[in-house]
Amino acid sequence: MKVVVLTGAGISAESGVPTFRDADGLWEGHRVEDVATPEAYDAQPLAVHRFYDARRAALGDVHPNPAHVALARLEDALGDDLLVVTQNIDDLHERAGSQRVLHMHGELLSAVCRSCHERSQWTEDLGDFPPCPRCGLTDLRPDVVWFGEVPYEMDRIHAALQDADLFVSIGTSGAVYPAAGFVMHAAAVGVRTLELNLQPSEGTSFFDESRHGPAGVLVPVWVDELLG
Ligand code: APR
Repeated sequence: MKVVVLTGAGISAESGVPTFRDADGLWEGHRVEDVATPEAYDAQPLAVHRFYDARRAALGDVHPNPAHVALARLEDALGDDLLVVTQNIDDLHERAGSQRVLHMHGELLSAVCRSCHERSQWTEDLGDFPPCPRCGLTDLRPDVVWFGEVPYEMDRIHAALQDADLFVSIGTSGAVYPAAGFVMHAAAVGVRTLELNLQPSEGTSFFDESRHGPAGVLVPVWVDELLG
């Protein structure tokens, strides 16, 4: 049984990580367009660094919830037959024990150099413009895929969707492409599709089955069912 799971901000909500579109449309007090775009970074790099530095530092205050733990348990059982693709830039899947996590929107704990393009594990602030570990230039930016930029490893994701028996979408609004289109890719090749979300997502009609409730409750129940 080959399974592809897509997760979004909703899976980290019960860990205390704010989602993007649940509140008043602000992302921790910022309009996402003001911080998560290449133009915003070019216009005000320090403000954008401060925003991501604060979220990187806040990772220490949040912890995986039962949904993350259940997916790690599922990976123990399925091994390479499970691929978790996350839109999230937190490290909660990894801290719950998941080993194969594809961060299609990048990661807070990574920095990329705009000069040599090296990606480096990163835990400190970037707002003081530290030197790139590889080329030494002070041209590091958050390794986060901003609006208008191309997500990571799309070919690998599409290949996994084509080859899957089941596609499960957890905690995502289905508001942002290309992730929002994965369910259609899967359905088009006959892959069974399941949505686990607090409320119907924008793409809920594309799923064979939708279950609504908190991920911390729905995901462990679903994993128990699957592992039977
Ligand atoms: N359990 C399950 N689902 C939840 C929970 C919960 N406890 N809390 C909220 N949700 C659901 C909401 O109903 C919503 O459908 O999670 C979804 C969160 O949607 P968004 O805030 O839009 O987050 P996401 O879908 O991950 O956003 C996608 O948009 O801003 C960009 O790059 C950013 O990766 C992000 C992308």
